[in-house]
Amino acid sequence: MLLLAIETSCDETSVAVLRDGCVLANEVSSQIKLHEEYGGVVPELASREHLRNLMPVARQSLGQADVAPGELDAIAATRGPGLPGALLVGLRAAQGLAFALAKPFIGIHHHEAHLYSPWIGGEPLSLSLDDFQPNVSLIVSGGHTMLVHVAAPLEHRVLGGTVDDAAGECFDKAAKLIGLPYPGGPELDRLANEGDGSAHKFPRPMMRDDSHDFSFSGLKTSVRYFIRDNPSVLEDGQRLRNLCAGVQAAIVEVLVAKTIRAAKKLGVKYVTASGGVTCNSGLRAALGAACERESFVLRLANPTLCTDNAAMVGMIAHMHLAKGTAATSLDAEIVPGWKLAESAVC
Ligand code: KG4
Ligand code: ZN
Repeated sequence: MLLLAIETSCDETSVAVLRDGCVLANEVSSQIKLHEEYGGVVPELASREHLRNLMPVARQSLGQADVAPGELDAIAATRGPGLPGALLVGLRAAQGLAFALAKPFIGIHHHEAHLYSPWIGGEPLSLSLDDFQPNVSLIVSGGHTMLVHVAAPLEHRVLGGTVDDAAGECFDKAAKLIGLPYPGGPELDRLANEGDGSAHKFPRPMMRDDSHDFSFSGLKTSVRYFIRDNPSVLEDGQRLRNLCAGVQAAIVEVLVAKTIRAAKKLGVKYVTASGGVTCNSGLRAALGAACERESFVLRLANPTLCTDNAAMVGMIAHMHLAKGTAATSLDAEIVPGWKLAESAVC
């Protein structure tokens, strides 16, 4: 079974080719440079860039996999959630290809793809669901922050999510206030590693409440006021690094505390994490330490699969095909606001 998967929900154009659930190629073209001067993703520019890049990236991926389009057995693409114009490019290209080849099309939920990415590993990359255990999963990216209970493969329900900003958004906006280049998350992570997070303690919003929800916009405001009241902190290398470490410590502590609390409440033995912010070194270390202390087994998505990519889209399509829950109508439209709980709807 040869499957081609397309991901264009935000600012990465990615095409993967999988054979029987093994990744033969996973090409990703990032638009970071394009959006850098605006300090965030500009939706119209993102769509146009996907249009420009999709065919070259698809050609590259098929070439790397040494697969001709006519050999494909199924085509998958992210259907939502995401930027409408960006989703349209990948979805219609995938449906057009499926139509021309008379092969099934599978519309994928972007968060479902992130959710199972911690189970992708090995060389070549493949799903290791033989080790699957019920888990609590943290999906943490630029657009979303949520906790999900995964009872069995493809049986999951959202426990809670952010009521305002996503954790990645908080990283990026705090980094912008500090004057770091876009996207600020990775740069803030790098500087935080050389800083002292206890030099200034930022609030830990909703950390102790009983819900599985998060809130990060107040933390961002608190960073803004701190910089307004202490402008010299940006002029001094060590104080700036301490500031980065303080921001990272606050975000990470909340994410870890709420993930561990949810895992205890649900009585699972495994914790998993995925999404762009799972690249964060502080989060990876703190989740590792907390899981060890509390005797949870931790599975983190491979850093190359944390940010948006088509391999995880192809893998979830493969899971749906295997379970017989896959085929989506060729007339199916994008679902920009698709909620994970509704993901079984095709
Ligand atoms: O999953 P992703 O590629 O796109 C979305 O679906 O949003 O995640 C991108 C987010 C950005 O906010 C970026 O700053 C953040 O992930 N990110 C990080 C790190 N690497 C990526 N945040 C903190 N530390 C990092 N090392
Ligand atoms: Zn994503």
